[in-house]
Amino acid sequence: MGKTAAETVKIVEVGPRDGLQSEPYTIPTSIKVELINRLADAGLKIIETTSFVSDRAIPQLSDAEAVYAQLDKRDDVQYPALVPNEKGYARARQAGINHIAIFTAASEAFNQHNINCSIEEAMARFYPVVASAQADGVTVRGYVSTVMGCPYQGKVPISDVVRVAESLYEAGCYEISLGDTIGVGTAKQAQALIRAIAESIPIDKLAVHFHDTYGQALANIYACLDLGIRTIDSSVAGLGGCPYARGATGNVATEDVVYMLNGMGLATGIDLHALAQTGRWIAAELGRPASRAGSAILKRHQ
Ligand code: HMG
Ligand code: MG
Repeated sequence: MGKTAAETVKIVEVGPRDGLQSEPYTIPTSIKVELINRLADAGLKIIETTSFVSDRAIPQLSDAEAVYAQLDKRDDVQYPALVPNEKGYARARQAGINHIAIFTAASEAFNQHNINCSIEEAMARFYPVVASAQADGVTVRGYVSTVMGCPYQGKVPISDVVRVAESLYEAGCYEISLGDTIGVGTAKQAQALIRAIAESIPIDKLAVHFHDTYGQALANIYACLDLGIRTIDSSVAGLGGCPYARGATGNVATEDVVYMLNGMGLATGIDLHALAQTGRWIAAELGRPASRAGSAILKRHQ
């Protein structure tokens, strides 16, 4: 890979939200808070903290207000949260949130299961949210889900992903995160997607958010880095999944991504050893295995 592009990569840590929303039981608030604080100690600068969604939909995150209130908030760290509608926005603002993310899928079927509305209806819900956010100085990130496949409809045409990504970008999202929600994509597919979207949205406004169901996430990220992508969503210890995508495993592990980037000479500002320790700790708390790279790093330093 050539070294002409920027030499830094922005990591958006999504474990506390995307990871913990999928656990079969609700993690105590104190563990969530400790996880986020430890991630900040390890050098993560953007940590997606929770979701202000319906607690009937995602009971695992029903303590959103308490989590945010109890964090050791640092000036140099952003703590964004997911917001699905105006009610969620009002809750998030009441809690003191300054960075939000809105989300819709590129597949109609997934949207119906996930947020109980069509893509068009989702966008209509988001316009007033983005307008309020802009008036309040709150930043808005946009997620497109099911960009490389949908658990209900199967294939998702690239043109559908492009259309939804453009809608979110034109609505005012500063960055569009492309979610392979069920982790089915492969490297050339990922590149075709990025090339198509980059025709209308600058590549530095795009992020990749790959789940690792088939073990393809690192390869897909590498393929996207090659095209100039420099923002990567990942999850400590590879936590995660999606409650509306049965069988989908966690996001790519942050430890694995940082190990790869370090080897490529791309800086993240993250202390990999501290991150690996955090990964091992949260994995043990949840009764899960730690990430591959995280375990290997800690073994080497024993
Ligand atoms: P709905 O049932 O159609 O909404 O749900 P509604 O407006 O009819 O409201 C129903 C009830 O929910 C009402 O309560 C509302 O007050 C309440 P009731 O009057 O019946 O007692 N309600 C809320 N409560 C708290 N906070 C709110 C809120 N909104 C309504 N914000 C809704 C629609 C969108 C709310 C629901 O389906 C929902 O919350 N879904 C969330 C789904 C979710 O969080 N999915 C996971 C995140 S997406 C993801 O993981 C993918 C991603 O990682 C990228 C990738 O991997 O691709 C981002
Ligand atoms: Mg996700």
